[in-house]
Amino acid sequence: MKRAPSRTALCVAATLLAQAEAACLSSGNQDTINNLLQQGGPNTVVSLCPGATIPLTGSIVFTASGQEISTAGYPTDDTRATVIIQPGSNTTSAIRGNWQDNVRVLNIQVDGNRPNAGPFGGDALLELGGGTTGQTVSHSVIKNTRSWSCLHLIGSGQDENPCRNATITFNTVGPCGEEGVDAQGLGLWADGLSIECTATTVTGATDGGIVIFGSPGSSFLRNTITSSTTQRGFGAINMVDPNYNGNYSGVVVSENIITGVGDSFIELGIGMGGQVWSNPHPLNNFGPTTVTNNVFKGNIGFSIVINGWENGLTVTGNDVSQVHSPSSDFADDSSCGPQQKASFAANKQLIIYEPGAGTPLNIQSDFDSIPNNGSNWLCLSHPVPTQQSFAPQSLSVNGKTSLVVQLRGFRVQLQGDGNLVGLDTTGAEWVVKWASSRYSTACGTDGSLCELDFGGDGNLVLYDANGPVWDAGTSGTGEDLVFYNAAPWVAVTGAGGNTLWTIADLTG
Ligand SMILES: *[C@@H]1O[C@H](CO)[C@@H](O)[C@H](O)[C@H]1NC(C)=O
Ligand SMILES: *[C@@H]1O[C@H](CO)[C@@H](O)[C@H](O)[C@H]1NC(C)=O
Ligand SMILES: *[C@@H]1O[C@H](CO)[C@@H](O)[C@H](O)[C@H]1NC(C)=O
Ligand SMILES: *[C@@H]1O[C@H](CO)[C@@H](O)[C@H](O)[C@H]1NC(C)=O
Repeated sequence: MKRAPSRTALCVAATLLAQAEAACLSSGNQDTINNLLQQGGPNTVVSLCPGATIPLTGSIVFTASGQEISTAGYPTDDTRATVIIQPGSNTTSAIRGNWQDNVRVLNIQVDGNRPNAGPFGGDALLELGGGTTGQTVSHSVIKNTRSWSCLHLIGSGQDENPCRNATITFNTVGPCGEEGVDAQGLGLWADGLSIECTATTVTGATDGGIVIFGSPGSSFLRNTITSSTTQRGFGAINMVDPNYNGNYSGVVVSENIITGVGDSFIELGIGMGGQVWSNPHPLNNFGPTTVTNNVFKGNIGFSIVINGWENGLTVTGNDVSQVHSPSSDFADDSSCGPQQKASFAANKQLIIYEPGAGTPLNIQSDFDSIPNNGSNWLCLSHPVPTQQSFAPQSLSVNGKTSLVVQLRGFRVQLQGDGNLVGLDTTGAEWVVKWASSRYSTACGTDGSLCELDFGGDGNLVLYDANGPVWDAGTSGTGEDLVFYNAAPWVAVTGAGGNTLWTIADLTG
């Protein structure tokens, strides 16, 4: 016989439901939340209503241990409440919880709003860590940081009271940062997760790259790291920095899946050691450290590179069978050193420079032990095309700007004396392959008065301050201007791709 629930139980359930509904916050800003945290003291839970969007012009700050911000009912879908930084504010950190034990960010969406608020230098989107234990960030979306990282667990700087025992699980991290530099030349890249916390677990994150700053005793398990389809990813999991004096002992990196997709790629899957990143440091990092059963797929330049490591390593069961080959289909090694170029050309994915690596050294047999001490494995770029086309009126370069096109191993530039030259850039010294050899004394002191134009009429013309110096004679017929890194070097084509003119017609 089915038993009816007791009256008391029903009552309690209804009361709890009513409380949960009444207690959740559906509007406000950081001040609303900060007031609740300050007044509530330790263990205060700020529960946001499902679907709520809380605009931020300042940080939400945990003020006591055990505080929590979460969405009521702990959903894991789009109904998770959003805290989002507003354009016009200089805030980069949505939530700060440094030096507070056991604080929790659960089941919410944290949006730095970089596309609208713009990149801005400052602290990470989530700033946690310090001399604490038991912090948790779980089932949350963390994306669009304006600064250098989406989530930062900072160290404490105190040997006796390190950041410890944090739990970072099942978060969707990213997009975080972009490739390239801003107008001031500052990098636009950002980390997904930046972890400088001991005995910590980072599990089940999707998307963001992970930088491990020492963090002895921490585990990085079953995370899924996928490149953007367009933006180059630098390193998926990095163990290259010298925090904790390079102490990576007891760090376990296992069963992560690292994938480079679309027209883009991940330069380096897992980097280990002081000599791997673009800023090598003299100290070796040290283990013993375990890197096992990670899977690499798609467009990845180098899957695991180890150089500058000591005191033991176990690197086994890592699978690179699904990495795209050859690497030159998706990446260019022009900026790499000789050892990196050799490994790239041979499509090597698992690379170790053994001297100094120490014992126990248990490395799977398909590793390539390289003969030279190659530093900086962050040297790949998007492939540069071998040719580039311009429609009428889409090319105008003067002798001051100089660069006309950069092709694979080749560069065309207009000099300040009006000479247009094609240079082979593959060797240590650039070699002139062709030149217009028509000079002008009327380019102006900085060359800016000499200008190469592919005009709206389809003619390619070099002008100086007095008018045309030379032209292709393709006015009314030219449809495309094409530069190549091999003969015929420069051509104007007409209807149906017919060649109307090449640079040889000028120089021949
Ligand atoms: C934001 O930063 C910019 C650049 O540093 C500064 O000029 C501006 O005054 C700041 N605005 C606020 C609201 O702090
Ligand atoms: C680690 O943190 C959890 C909370 O996330 C807590 O329950 C546990 O007691 C902590 N363990 C230690 C050793 O501090
Ligand atoms: C490295 O870190 C571990 C864990 O914190 C510690 O036990 C060990 O003594 C450290 N090693 C050195 C050489 O500092
Ligand atoms: C590799 O080169 C770096 C940078 O020059 C140097 O610091 C390091 O000691 C070298 N490694 C070995 C094992 O010689």
